[in-house]
Amino acid sequence: MPDTLNPTAGHVKLGSNSGQPMSRRDGVAKVTGAATYAADNRPDGLLYAVYAGAGIARGRVTSLGVGAAKAHPGVVEVMTPENRPPLALDPDEKHHFFAWRIEALQNDTVRYAGQPIAVVIAETLEAATEGARLLAPTYDEEPARIGFDGGEAYDPPTVGIGGNPTFEKGDAEAAEARSAKVVETKIATPMQYHNAMEPHAIVAQWDGDRLTIDTPNQAIVMARGGFAAYFGIPPENVTLRSPFLGGGFGSKAILVGPQLLCILAAKLTGRPVKLTLRRDQMYGPVQHRGATRQTVTLGTDGDNRLTMIKHHSVATTSSFDEFIEGAANASQNTYATPVLKSSHGAVRQDTGTPGPMRAPGEATGSAALEVAMDRMAEEAGMDPLEFRLLNYAETDPASGKEYSSKNLRECYAEGAKRFGWAGRPLTPGMMKDEHGRLKGWGMGTAMFPAPMFQAQARAVLKADGTAVVETAGADMGQGAWTALAQIAADGVGLPADKVEFLSGTSDQPDGGVAGGSGHTATAGSALFAAGSDAVAKLAEIAMKDPDSPVFGADNAGVEAREGRLVRLDDESRSDSYADILARAGLSEIEGNGTGARNPADAEARAMFSHGAVFAEVLIDPDLYQIRVSRLVGAFAAGRIINPKLAASQLNGGMIWGVGFALHEEGIHDPRTGRPVNGDLAGYHVPVNADVPFVETLLIDEEDHFVNALGVKGVGEMGISGTVGAIANAVWHATGKRVTSFPIHISALL
Ligand code: MOS
Repeated sequence: MPDTLNPTAGHVKLGSNSGQPMSRRDGVAKVTGAATYAADNRPDGLLYAVYAGAGIARGRVTSLGVGAAKAHPGVVEVMTPENRPPLALDPDEKHHFFAWRIEALQNDTVRYAGQPIAVVIAETLEAATEGARLLAPTYDEEPARIGFDGGEAYDPPTVGIGGNPTFEKGDAEAAEARSAKVVETKIATPMQYHNAMEPHAIVAQWDGDRLTIDTPNQAIVMARGGFAAYFGIPPENVTLRSPFLGGGFGSKAILVGPQLLCILAAKLTGRPVKLTLRRDQMYGPVQHRGATRQTVTLGTDGDNRLTMIKHHSVATTSSFDEFIEGAANASQNTYATPVLKSSHGAVRQDTGTPGPMRAPGEATGSAALEVAMDRMAEEAGMDPLEFRLLNYAETDPASGKEYSSKNLRECYAEGAKRFGWAGRPLTPGMMKDEHGRLKGWGMGTAMFPAPMFQAQARAVLKADGTAVVETAGADMGQGAWTALAQIAADGVGLPADKVEFLSGTSDQPDGGVAGGSGHTATAGSALFAAGSDAVAKLAEIAMKDPDSPVFGADNAGVEAREGRLVRLDDESRSDSYADILARAGLSEIEGNGTGARNPADAEARAMFSHGAVFAEVLIDPDLYQIRVSRLVGAFAAGRIINPKLAASQLNGGMIWGVGFALHEEGIHDPRTGRPVNGDLAGYHVPVNADVPFVETLLIDEEDHFVNALGVKGVGEMGISGTVGAIANAVWHATGKRVTSFPIHISALL
């Protein structure tokens, strides 16, 4: 086969669709309300489920007013541990590295406030809600353990998903002893809740032992397998539809308890059931980011080069499961240092179990590292950007490997230029705006791994010259389906309007997980490979067909262009897909493809996306109210499939950074363990007025190792440099170093 049709040939040539700043294909449907989310499904005979959440954080349920709830008009059934149908798996066991221990009414134990303790199923949402209120549970209550002094402290066996909790390169103590300067920085970060716009929702319908589920999900085929396992049925018996997600941020990647409860309720009643979480119910059973307490110790030599980075982080997890924010690992891959040590501790508390959330590890860890770097620059009397450039990592500090690509220098240079960093005074408190507000400029390095997972795709070329290309992927709102459809169209060599791109249901080939900012790279590779496979089969037929204009082109090869195969040795000779299929008497031809990283490349190179974020804050000199007035990020993330959506993703990532730096904080009352601010009135996220100006510059980057498309990830990287940049800007405005997030006004007074 000609190598232009071979997707594994290194940086492949893409067609005319990739690289275009297309708008979201589902944008109009979403803003006009035509897009149906899971909770918009109303099958005939639908019942509504509302669960009662525990009013205590630890103990046992001693009574439930089941009779009162059942007597309420419209209530059909009350599901408790007494009558809930059996599960094939024990929900208290960990069945899979990507599965959590979950609450499915397995007993009367309460492990956190808001934990589901009973489900009321009714003809209307109102009746179910009132029924749940009538349950009026009583408890045998034990004291809640909240915060770092709460429960047991221990050394976690893993951090993140299967990550190593400790790493050491060189002798940190010896390095500390011989460093010219050593600065220790302590940073605390709070619990954070995902707060996707769309609450977790599910509609479940049984038909014998076949199950149909509508629920938003970031990893559709894996979730199908998970649900099937809990109910002891083959995965083929489960249809999971997730056409639209109103945000996920990690919290919709993993199966959660309320989903099981809805399916159980449908089983118990023999009718379709819908369960939609209320906003306040999203502060418990559907994960969060654990709090961290971090210590970063940096050493430098007489030339202000790093001699060591030591990073320790303690994170909170639940009493019964763990997901440890791998914050300290963020220090392994950012700056050049001969000595590196990262380590993690954990503390149990009576909350729901944390999970992946918006750059888990990188967001928290880089926040601490960037503040530490800024303090070291101050210590050296150097401009923060100059200090970072001096400590630029030419190879990956942890593994010593070459990078697959790294254009961070360009990010620094272009970002600084666009922001206007030059001339920034070294001393804090020197700048004011026209209203007399203190002005500060800070920066941070953005970094995020460029992972690939596993995905499959199918491409079918049709006799009418169109194609259908599909993979069970997830678009959380980031525009994944638009970018994937662009790749899919290029894979089959057709204009986008000739290609039907299908995604979002479990009967399609496994699209893998929309997580780790690796969805475009992974599912995109599968889609391109599937298209190339179909085109290659077509080319095979045409080149052997004496009636084809490309007959005998084998050695020179052909290239797919806009629905035609064109001879490379004579571009005037080409054959259309439709004609090739018609002569061969075929109605269609199918190609299949897989997306996964080449193991040899993975072994040989360190793979990351990089960037630089510059922040300006304005601070009221009397009230100390903080505004982020400007954010400029320059990012290099391999080949950009859709610059409009990629920039939008990175803008969004930087805005997450604003939320982290200034707003988001999940607070639990240490006496009761209950969330204090479990709604969007109390849990603050940035709104338009909080982000007056944000801009992303995309820096060109060719990467010949990450995958044949050269695609890295863009989503989560944006938060990683931003939190520290804002904290450093606050210092530059006020001279006050940030020690905890979010930055409270009281910390500056
Ligand atoms: Mo994510 S936290 O990569 O879904």
